Amino acid sequence: MTFDSRAELKTIQKNLGEISFEDKRVLVTGGAGFLGSWMCETLLNLGAEVTCIDNFASGQKCNIQSLMGNERFRFIEHDISVPIAMDTHLDYIFEMASRASPFEFEHYPIQILKSNTLGVMVALGIAKKHNARLVYTSTSEVYGNPDIVPTPETYYGNVNPIGPRGCYDEAKRCGEAYVIAYRRQHHLNTRIARIFNTYGPRIRLDGIYGRVIPRFIDQALKNQPLTIFGDGSQTRSFTYVTDQIEGLLRLAALDAAEGQVINIGNVNEITVLELAKKVIHLTGSKSSLSFHPLPEDDPLRRRPDVTKAKEILKWVPKASLEHGLDRTIAWIKTQQDYPAQS
Ligand SMILES: NC(=O)c1ccc[n+]([C@@H]2O[C@H](COP(=O)([O-])OP(=O)(O)OC[C@H]3O[C@@H](n4cnc5c(N)ncnc54)[C@H](O)[C@@H]3O)[C@@H](O)[C@H]2O)c1
Repeated sequence: MTFDSRAELKTIQKNLGEISFEDKRVLVTGGAGFLGSWMCETLLNLGAEVTCIDNFASGQKCNIQSLMGNERFRFIEHDISVPIAMDTHLDYIFEMASRASPFEFEHYPIQILKSNTLGVMVALGIAKKHNARLVYTSTSEVYGNPDIVPTPETYYGNVNPIGPRGCYDEAKRCGEAYVIAYRRQHHLNTRIARIFNTYGPRIRLDGIYGRVIPRFIDQALKNQPLTIFGDGSQTRSFTYVTDQIEGLLRLAALDAAEGQVINIGNVNEITVLELAKKVIHLTGSKSSLSFHPLPEDDPLRRRPDVTKAKEILKWVPKASLEHGLDRTIAWIKTQQDYPAQS
């Protein structure tokens, strides 16, 4: 079974309105990953020429397989924390290369730190050479466990640098500092997105320590108990991939966004317990719930203040959680053989 991404591409194009990437030359680092592959595919659909750099640390060849025959697409297998010469002119760079799931924080902390420090520096060097606009995909994790929710971009963060999430949270904070330093010293045209939990087709199935939505869907489709850490009262706000890619493209394209740091996420909060019940309902699963101790430093609440995104990017998320979950369930079903649901 294959998944047809045309509906998502059409939605993004429609929601972007007049914004165009026709004939633009774009570099996407981390382009074989979940968000990166959507970025590459969307940009090609919008008429851009796309170079994708990825070392398959957490990305997958199947994510970009359908793009390989496209003459406007070029793939370079490379670790972005190692310098690379890019000779063809570039208009935009989306610096997205980083492992991003909690399972990886435990097993690959050094690679995560390198990607978001050395890797960001390499990407900024390329941007400087070509005078290209650079968008860095930072994260809500720079806020750590915030005292202010909804969290505005002005909040400095409440991060434990030596805790299990420190490698990711601090790496992203350092990545942001690099971007700002290059902007101050070399006057680069930069933009920073603080992405809040985003999900959709191609998000990796990482087992029980993976991201919550693919984990719940996978367990529900197998009629296995859904793993809930803590009592499930912690909240998250989830953004469907079409909304996230639209937000990132607006951030890149709009002149008003130059130099800005902007939260891109959904304001609709849901508890992890409610989410589990919703996934069981939507999959028609017979799964029960299984409660486990809350991991150290797991944030209790995640909800962005999106005033800046609304005002500067004219962006609001449009996809409902039910729609996004239905599409993600449809995609996950194409990935493995699951038992039939009642
Ligand atoms: N999905 C989310 O909810 C979310 C939330 C906040 C921030 N982000 C950020 O968005 C970006 C994309 O995340 P994603 O969810 O698509 O994760 P992902 O793991 O699916 O994709 C990351 C991609 O980067 C590649 N990569 C990692 N290190 C690399 C390196 N050193 N050199 C070259 N390629 C490398 C991986 O192979 C993978 O293809 C990341 O920077 C992540 O931190 C994502």
